[in-house]
Amino acid sequence: MNKEKLRIVSSCQIAKDTVEMVLENDYISKHATPGQFVHLTVDGHTLRRPISIADINREQQTITILFKIIGSGTKRLAAYQVGEYVDALGPSGNGFQLENHSGATILLVGGGIGVPPLYNLGKALAAKGINIISVLGFQTGDYVFYEGKFKALGQTIIVTNDGSYGEKGFVTDVLDDLDFDRYYTCGPVPMLQAITTKLKGKDGYISLEERMGCGVGACFACVIPVNDGNGYKKICKDGPVFHAEEVAL
Ligand code: FES
Repeated sequence: MNKEKLRIVSSCQIAKDTVEMVLENDYISKHATPGQFVHLTVDGHTLRRPISIADINREQQTITILFKIIGSGTKRLAAYQVGEYVDALGPSGNGFQLENHSGATILLVGGGIGVPPLYNLGKALAAKGINIISVLGFQTGDYVFYEGKFKALGQTIIVTNDGSYGEKGFVTDVLDDLDFDRYYTCGPVPMLQAITTKLKGKDGYISLEERMGCGVGACFACVIPVNDGNGYKKICKDGPVFHAEEVAL
């Protein structure tokens, strides 16, 4: 993890309250892996939440992040112009395992702003010859993003809570008929609880990025008990990705 300056290459709103930003930085684009995050500082104001990396382009030395405008820090970040720089620590955390499972089928389940890190993961897995099924949940149709990008990786099911786009309900409502070897999921904790309960016994990994505070191991906001009763893990240092049975949600 380094302290770096990232140049904003592009910034645009791609769904309601949701901004996609492409940032140029040699070190982070070279070393980042799927599931890792960057810890951005905006005008000396540390964002409350570290932001996951949605895509990496090593040739163009860029990473892509997506964030939801939910407070003053993200509002300020959204106002940055192309060509300006933001400070960031990164790449941070331990990302997804990328073992070789050529021919296997992997299920990706994302909820809201938990969707972005799964895109980078899905791309990396698809490049290894792995079949991808994606289930992406959003509040309403206005919040849906990256549908086309996930469809390019494989079967993609969109679910909205109010049924204004795709299937109506929750991501857990559409899992019954899907056949897969392993799952990866990222999203709000209640969604992760529902998924790990429904898919109990299946091989799975969860990303707990929503639970992070400082992102650098200093605030203890992110500790989570491990399931064997043997202490705690720090999400920002030991995660954000864990085996689904490793930690107690
Ligand atoms: Fe502060 Fe992990 S988020 S210690």
